[in-house]
Amino acid sequence: MPASRRGSGTLTTPSGQTLAFHTRTHDEEDLPHATKKTMADHLRKYESLFTLTPQRMRMIVEAFKDTLELGLQKHDQVVPMIPTFVFGWPTGKERGDYLAVDLGGTNLRVCLVTLQGEGKFEITQSKYRLSEEQKQEDGQKLFDFCAECLKTFIDSNIKEGTIKEGQELPLGFTFSYPCSQERIDHGQLIRWTKGFGVTNTEGRDVAAMFIESLGKADIPVTLTALINDTTGTLIASHYVNPRTKIAVIFGTGCNAAYMEKMGNVEKSKSLGIKDDAEMAINCEWGAFDSFEHEHLPRTKYDKVVDETSNKPGEQAFEKLISGRYLGEILRLVICELIDEGVLFLGQNTYKLEAPYVFDTAFLSLMESDPTDELLMIIGIFTHFFAVETTLAERQFFRALAMLIGKRAARLSACGIAAIVSKMGYLEEGCSVGADGSLYNKYPGFADRIHEGLIDIFGEKGKNIVTHHAEDGSGVGSAIIAAMTKERKDAGLYTHV
Ligand code: BGC
Repeated sequence: MPASRRGSGTLTTPSGQTLAFHTRTHDEEDLPHATKKTMADHLRKYESLFTLTPQRMRMIVEAFKDTLELGLQKHDQVVPMIPTFVFGWPTGKERGDYLAVDLGGTNLRVCLVTLQGEGKFEITQSKYRLSEEQKQEDGQKLFDFCAECLKTFIDSNIKEGTIKEGQELPLGFTFSYPCSQERIDHGQLIRWTKGFGVTNTEGRDVAAMFIESLGKADIPVTLTALINDTTGTLIASHYVNPRTKIAVIFGTGCNAAYMEKMGNVEKSKSLGIKDDAEMAINCEWGAFDSFEHEHLPRTKYDKVVDETSNKPGEQAFEKLISGRYLGEILRLVICELIDEGVLFLGQNTYKLEAPYVFDTAFLSLMESDPTDELLMIIGIFTHFFAVETTLAERQFFRALAMLIGKRAARLSACGIAAIVSKMGYLEEGCSVGADGSLYNKYPGFADRIHEGLIDIFGEKGKNIVTHHAEDGSGVGSAIIAAMTKERKDAGLYTHV
């Protein structure tokens, strides 16, 4: 941020010390000073920047549909539409004990899932928070850590003697990053997303890397399936609610999966799979409109988020929607208004100036503040950023959070609508299993998706209903491991 701003900021001395400064003039003595009128004027500007009209949404849906089709026809497309080798829906009769390791954007989770048939299951799990260093270190080291956690989990949760001499438990590995798969127990990492920058991993088979770590730790498991969280969510949601046809994740990242007829997957014809066989497709739709930026309405704040990320140009759709980025978008707007001398005059705002300090969880809290005085917003700004706010500013922040959250939900509706429309699900309707922190915790996110679907499709949009999905990365992973084992035992498409 430039030091020439009216208001406040920080300077770093040659010896590395940070000095706070602020500038004020005689007419700004009644601080904090942003008034209802100035804030309302500013809000109008942001309203026009962040609002998506139904017409614009329908244009996005059309472009999205074409992109999905292209990904099915040809290899190496921006939205890769990855065949997952998860064949068809679960029967609900899957049974047995399965392990699942889930490497997500924030945590590593290890689960033991007992499938009891008839859509029932039991799950025991442990969670480990990933440190920022682990997200940037060497790939093999990260997989060694996953194996260690699995070993500790097995030692403390599985009774001695349960695993017989020579027996190996089947393991589903949920790896929620784009991987192109040649078979279900293989996956070449296309690129890291969600801020991960682990080295020596892109372009390599992450299943093989994990198997190497499992071998080193001498763990009695067989990696049966490498799965994406959306694929797991699709299968787990269908296991308990057979009307589910699409699964979506709106969390740190965003993505969708659905079931496709292999006859429509032109690029996989050489695999020798029957045209009427069904397979789950991991869309990796977070990459929609990457690099070219032709279809999505990006503001200058979105462009800054993109350009300052560790992957400029990539995950263009995800950067407008997912939990990793929404707080940062709002922070950039706030910083602009500080620079313009509108907000927090005379106060030291350095705490707001560090990238990614404004958590997306703050947006949900701001939107759901039930008090007239917006006390929760006072709390956020005084506690985390040491600045005082006026009521007018707080009302403005709440309205801004709403604009950013609403845009994310309406864009999410565009993605869902593209799959619905491509697959012809609108008339008969369908359930969409949805998961992720944004979907589960952001107030009104689901309602806004539903409103968006009506804006796109008219009244028929009501036929498409999202619901909170079953745990895809744990339970879904186990069901897929079970389905895969059954398929291979039955001798069906054993080469994939
Ligand atoms: C990843 C997807 C994942 C999604 C949700 C995205 O960043 O590329 O593989 O499904 O996040 O976790």
